[in-house]
Amino acid sequence: MSRRKIAAGNWKMNKNYDDALQLIRDISATNPPKDIHTILAIPSIYLKNGVDMLMHIIGIDVAAQNCHQEESGAYTGEIAASMLASISVPYVVIGHSERREYFYENNAQLAKKVDTALANGLQVIFCCGESLEIRKSGDHVAYVSEQIREGLFHLSDEQWSNIVVAYEPIWAIGTGETASPEQAQEMHAALRSMIASEKSNDIADDLSILYGGSVKPSNAADIFSGSDVDGALVGGASLVADGFLEIMDALSKS
Ligand code: PGA
Repeated sequence: MSRRKIAAGNWKMNKNYDDALQLIRDISATNPPKDIHTILAIPSIYLKNGVDMLMHIIGIDVAAQNCHQEESGAYTGEIAASMLASISVPYVVIGHSERREYFYENNAQLAKKVDTALANGLQVIFCCGESLEIRKSGDHVAYVSEQIREGLFHLSDEQWSNIVVAYEPIWAIGTGETASPEQAQEMHAALRSMIASEKSNDIADDLSILYGGSVKPSNAADIFSGSDVDGALVGGASLVADGFLEIMDALSKS
């Protein structure tokens, strides 16, 4: 798949059923721009509603926020990629920093999750990003490059077409502090050129790289001004339909 503008929302573990349905209805009523691709990563328990209401009615895709690396089996509480595929969920987020930090997911495990997701026909939004400590040490580009190498470099050229990368500096997630447009562009350009030189120009050119970390209506246009920033993965600001619409509009105009 070639490079696309993508506005992705990540609800994380927010919204009870009635509120989730209301937000889905509110987003359905907003008439989102058609020239960008929109994805909402909603809690797994609501994915079937999302498929029926968002995908089938207004063409917004849904994503799971995680899946297990094994095909099936005795993994109480987990969700298999094949289950997601069986209800027509097209995307899964893999490697979000909250999964890495609170559930100890490491690069090797994430590489397996990517394989299982792709084997089941899902597209993957693969997250990467450095802590504040690593940013301050100046090793951020090397660190994030290694996350990409370990998580994705075993894939074939064809498989890369089902990958979207989301760069999310941990120090900017949910903190209100955003990377500057220059910091976002610098990392995105560095990742794209690393992928071009170590994999291929075609893979790098076709890859959509999203920025995540306190994107909101007031800073979205600036963030999207970077030529290597293809969209955003939005947490808190995706929980309000109007705010998310403003971000989608800013991406559409970028
Ligand atoms: P935030 O979250 O927009 O609330 O910072 C982004 C994310 O974690 O995907």
